Amino acid sequence: MVLAASQRLDLPRPPSFDLTRAVMPDPAAEAWTIRRLLSWTTDFFAKRGFESPRLEAEVLLAHVLDHARYQLYMHIDDVVSDAARSAFRDLVKRRSEGEPSAYLVGRKEFYALSFKVTPAVLIPRPDSEFLVIEALEALGKMVGRETPRLADVGTGSGCLAVAVARRSPQVRIVAIDRSAEALAVARENAQAHGVADRIDFCEGDLFEPLDPEDRFDLIVSNPPYVATPVWETLEPTIKNFEPRLALDGGIDGLDVIRRLVDQAAVRLHPGGTLAMEIGSDQGEAVTRLFAGDLWSPPTIRRDHAGLDRVVTTRRLPIA
Ligand SMILES: C[S@@+](CC[C@H](N)C(=O)[O-])C[C@H]1O[C@@H](n2cnc3c(N)ncnc32)[C@H](O)[C@@H]1O
Repeated sequence: MVLAASQRLDLPRPPSFDLTRAVMPDPAAEAWTIRRLLSWTTDFFAKRGFESPRLEAEVLLAHVLDHARYQLYMHIDDVVSDAARSAFRDLVKRRSEGEPSAYLVGRKEFYALSFKVTPAVLIPRPDSEFLVIEALEALGKMVGRETPRLADVGTGSGCLAVAVARRSPQVRIVAIDRSAEALAVARENAQAHGVADRIDFCEGDLFEPLDPEDRFDLIVSNPPYVATPVWETLEPTIKNFEPRLALDGGIDGLDVIRRLVDQAAVRLHPGGTLAMEIGSDQGEAVTRLFAGDLWSPPTIRRDHAGLDRVVTTRRLPIA
């Protein structure tokens, strides 16, 4: 799957579309069927520069009608009620003003699982699925650990913790976030996916809320890594709606990453793995953080667009 440029977080944004108010013309003679609404809205979104105008129209209309997207096509010539059309019109207007579809419908798919999202959490990105893959690979190599312990630092919606827990029945997870609102969403997602009994949720700064003796076999994190000057340039659909706490990593984007690497060196068992998402231009700088004799030489996994995205390394046993 090729990732659309606007879904990545760390590239300067093109100028946003004009926030023209979405006023849907009243039907004169023709009835507003699903077909006609989709066609009108696709055209409307396309004129505003949306990358996937048809898909976005379908997602919003399916949400209003409480259908799966494919069901729209089973009812394509059904007339949409005035109430549903009015609700749809409201969503189309808000979307055209930049509000992300995932917040409008309150859900986002990640690693083939459906997650609740609210404006308190970052919308899970397809590229972060590589972190799940790294985590599952690392867990698969852990022999002799009956119940490996994983920390998910900056859990947000809980998408990483929940996806790993679903695929690895033995793992026990501690999911940490500074945002109490995000943790509430993560808890709901863990419950919805039947893994809440294997995930502890902790509020605080990095490992600070944990017992000082707590140690892990694996740490995963998608920390805030967007440099503040780049954050300023993010397109409004991200900058004006997604939580700054989830994105802004300070002047060079590495404020949280530096502290995370320092703390992970203490929190990992010898031989334990750290897998962390990074900005596409941060590979070299982050690799330098692992110089010395504490860490194995890091590997960097590329994302769907061929850009550096996930760095993985192991805490070396003390010589
Ligand atoms: C980029 S989001 C990642 C969310 C989710 N893990 C994902 O991959 O979609 C970063 C998350 O880290 C949290 N966060 C930011 N700084 C933090 C800190 N110092 N300690 C703990 N969590 C932090 C934010 O609240 C946000 O939920």
